[in-house]
Amino acid sequence: MKNFSIIVITVLSVAISSCNKEKPMDKIIDESLAFAIHQYTMMADVMNEKTDLLPRTIDESGSLVTSNSGWWTSGFSPGSLWYLYEYSKDENIREAAVRMTSRVEKEKNNKGTHDLGFMLYCSFGNGLRLTGEESYNEILLTGASSLSTRFRPVVGCIQSWGSRSGWQCPVIIDNMMNLELLMWAFKKSGDSSFYKIALTHADTTIINHFRPDYSTWHVVSYDTLSGDIEAKQTAQGAADESSWARGQSWGLYGYTMMYRETGLQRYLDQAQGIADFLISHPNLPDDKIPYWDYDAPGIPDAHRDASAGAIMASALIELSGFAEPEKRNKYLDIAEKQIRSLASPAYMAEPGENGNFILMHSVGSLPAKSEVDVPLTYADYYFIEALLRFRKIKGIVD
Ligand code: GLY
Repeated sequence: MKNFSIIVITVLSVAISSCNKEKPMDKIIDESLAFAIHQYTMMADVMNEKTDLLPRTIDESGSLVTSNSGWWTSGFSPGSLWYLYEYSKDENIREAAVRMTSRVEKEKNNKGTHDLGFMLYCSFGNGLRLTGEESYNEILLTGASSLSTRFRPVVGCIQSWGSRSGWQCPVIIDNMMNLELLMWAFKKSGDSSFYKIALTHADTTIINHFRPDYSTWHVVSYDTLSGDIEAKQTAQGAADESSWARGQSWGLYGYTMMYRETGLQRYLDQAQGIADFLISHPNLPDDKIPYWDYDAPGIPDAHRDASAGAIMASALIELSGFAEPEKRNKYLDIAEKQIRSLASPAYMAEPGENGNFILMHSVGSLPAKSEVDVPLTYADYYFIEALLRFRKIKGIVD
């Protein structure tokens, strides 16, 4: 029997064509941001009582599940609050953002993960951008130095996870996202080692992670002595040779960001190659929200991943700003469809429900049966970012 939420998404996404499709985008964006503020204000109140913890998802009973700051998603809810402060200029939201951001500070010394870009740049990075808070500089620079310790010169990559059987030096496509912190640290400090590490990682990843059609493996593992590739596999995807949806979105976002930061044509070419692969993929559904894996078993009855859709939308909006007119329009058209879908009842929660998260229907790791068809902080973060980016690129705001 089909999972109930899959049936609901299918029915509601058809209904989008008769409601959200005709609504002006500025209205959809303003309503979505107002809803996001409502949800995140309530979530911030709940989190006040949970010292040192950060929101993560909900459990089967619908109750909020939290994490400590060491979990890779810790920076997203502070980051969402910063984006909502940017939009609303509401001092209460700013105070909540400051409070939640401070809970992530100790991760600046964490040399045991590659996720420091996610954790620190989404939280402190946005806080610095919006407030100029001087103390955030040291936190971000310390974090960038910690991340740099994971660079393996013989491999030419930052190591993602610890060694395990068959994987001496695993590097996952997601790691492209952490390079933004290093690019910031280079510009702030003038220390070219940050720049060299970021570019070497991005270049090695183009060579080793991508297939000729611009799809990406999830995990590439290297021999730590020779630097040779020892495995190309998956951890969160359907199969080693499949295209895990969020990984494709991370790649798209990562190379778009690297083009923004460096102006190097090869990163723009890579981003456009990935975008074109995803947009023309026969398994991208009509509402443009990917299944959790483009090769998931059981399509069209497979789970969607709203997080992959939100990350892709945000990346496509930025990429459209670098593209020639024809591609620009294509990228914006897909991103608009994704925003309309995510802002519809098929994916957007009812007020006060969904653990006060914004979006429903994301997938953390289906093979691990972990966080399947649930809200996730990063789906919300990149959805809010996409809303703000769309608003800006369309001139709805300066
Ligand atoms: N970086 C982990 C994930 O995308 O699930």
